[in-house]
Amino acid sequence: LGYFTFDPGFVATASCRSAITYIDGEEGVLLYRGYPIEQLAEQSTFLEVAYLLLYGELPTAEELAAFERSITNHTMINESLKSFFNGFHYDAHPMAMMCGVVGSLSAFYYNHTDINDPADRDLAAHRLIAKMPTIAAACYKHGKGEPFVYPDNRLSYTGNFLRMMFAIPSEPYEVDPVAERALDVLFILHADHEQNASTSTVRLAGSTGAHPYASVAAGIAALWGPAHGGANEAVLRMLEEIGHPDNIPKYIAKAKDKDDPFRLMGFGHRVYKNYDPRAKIIRRHCYEVLEKLGKRNEALLDLAMRLEEVALSDEYFIERKLYPNVDFYTGIIYKALGIPTNMFTVMFAIARTVGWVAHWLEMVSDPELRIGRPRQLYTGPARRDYVALDQRG
Ligand code: CMC
Repeated sequence: LGYFTFDPGFVATASCRSAITYIDGEEGVLLYRGYPIEQLAEQSTFLEVAYLLLYGELPTAEELAAFERSITNHTMINESLKSFFNGFHYDAHPMAMMCGVVGSLSAFYYNHTDINDPADRDLAAHRLIAKMPTIAAACYKHGKGEPFVYPDNRLSYTGNFLRMMFAIPSEPYEVDPVAERALDVLFILHADHEQNASTSTVRLAGSTGAHPYASVAAGIAALWGPAHGGANEAVLRMLEEIGHPDNIPKYIAKAKDKDDPFRLMGFGHRVYKNYDPRAKIIRRHCYEVLEKLGKRNEALLDLAMRLEEVALSDEYFIERKLYPNVDFYTGIIYKALGIPTNMFTVMFAIARTVGWVAHWLEMVSDPELRIGRPRQLYTGPARRDYVALDQRG
């Protein structure tokens, strides 16, 4: 192999140094800037966690207020973006719209973003975090054919998002504090996860000097796949298809059958060979949220818990160390909050934007930054001569 190694899927390759997030996959540990995910989910807020991931330390009260003010200031999207939405069919998948609309922000801010200027870089990071919920809610409203709801900057990050999703203009809308906190916790848990496929995509695109909004649009595209962020949507569709605990053995058998492409969605992880710590929190959170919303009789939760129990006592899953991952229980909470299934991965994208921009900021300020450029093992033909068209058999 000469001076490089063959590592398909980057199973054993560190592509960068990073001080943002630490994972111990064997022990099931996740730390943001050294702080355990369990403590942050319990005690912090999404915007405080965003500050921590971006700048490395928990903010003082003043720093947090200034950060929240900056995010709030940037929640609006340019009015001309509305006509951009009109180009999408009403039944376009919201993740498809997200790829396009977020990418188009690079056109709006192209002349005002100098990626060599730290202040401009920060501004791009804040804009992306601020505008993502507005764009996400607009994707949903476009699909329903309802007018967009402008941000209300008196509300919290998640309260504002819920209102933009569910309010009808000119009618009063009260944010439900249970839903607001439930979403905040989910956003904290999804905010970063070191060099996953979408974050690596943002880094790879950004390493060329590409615009931050375009780099994040690339990350959204990578997140969409069912092996990554698209799994939350796939889990709910799978649970609905299974339908009843009596059908679980049939689906477990399908997941184990190497001739069947079916996989148990929301199970397994490249790094965790133990229970995903986020899944542990979400499982408990799911129970509490349904209880508080008066939806504890949600049959899907019982079905998911039974499926987990059966899988975790099966030799196939034990041998391969396949445990529920972050996506296994989230859909049940989103569904209880009234968020439609095709918006689940968009929810992931809103939260992960913080991780994407934190990694982008870390990368572009690294004096050792080099363009990301993997090598390959060539398997094509050896050198041969061109054959004229009339001489080809
Ligand atoms: N159902 C059945 N078998 C599985 C599953 C599953 N969900 N996941 C892995 N396996 C098997 C796989 O067939 C292989 O078996 P064998 O050794 O006999 O060939 C073994 O376990 C190792 O799997 P792998 O595909 O080599 O592992 P990977 O690290 O390349 O893939 C994964 C990780 C997450 C893509 C995979 O576990 C998977 O497809 N899971 C289902 C999709 C999912 O839930 N994705 C969300 C991941 S967490 C959130 C996120 O990243 O966004």
